[in-house]
Amino acid sequence: MLAGRPNPRLTCALYPSSPAPAAPPTRFRRLDPDGRLVPLTVDGQALELPEGMPLAAALLTHGFDAFHRSVRRAEPRGPWCLMGTCLQCIATVDGRPQVRTCRTPVAAGMVVTLGS
Ligand code: FES
Repeated sequence: MLAGRPNPRLTCALYPSSPAPAAPPTRFRRLDPDGRLVPLTVDGQALELPEGMPLAAALLTHGFDAFHRSVRRAEPRGPWCLMGTCLQCIATVDGRPQVRTCRTPVAAGMVVTLGS
């Protein structure tokens, strides 16, 4: 038996009839809150993100943490190194598959598809 507060994710998995937990607060925040925001689409959702900021970082500040699924086990994967080495941040951007989002600056009108 585990002591302390139950993990809300485990609680939901153990008791499927319980309401889904609210999205966990993100650990990331913008360092330049006055930067220019540009519109783009992420999984069909219209967002405004800071222009020029690495796309992976901008999505992390909005609570996105699963960018694609692993090949063998279909486990969610998200940015790890944030410097273009690990390939854990790949997504489809403007129809181009397997784009490293940590090396891609946010631009107006981008269409991003996660989970591919
Ligand atoms: S986070 Fe590692 S390559 Fe993008």
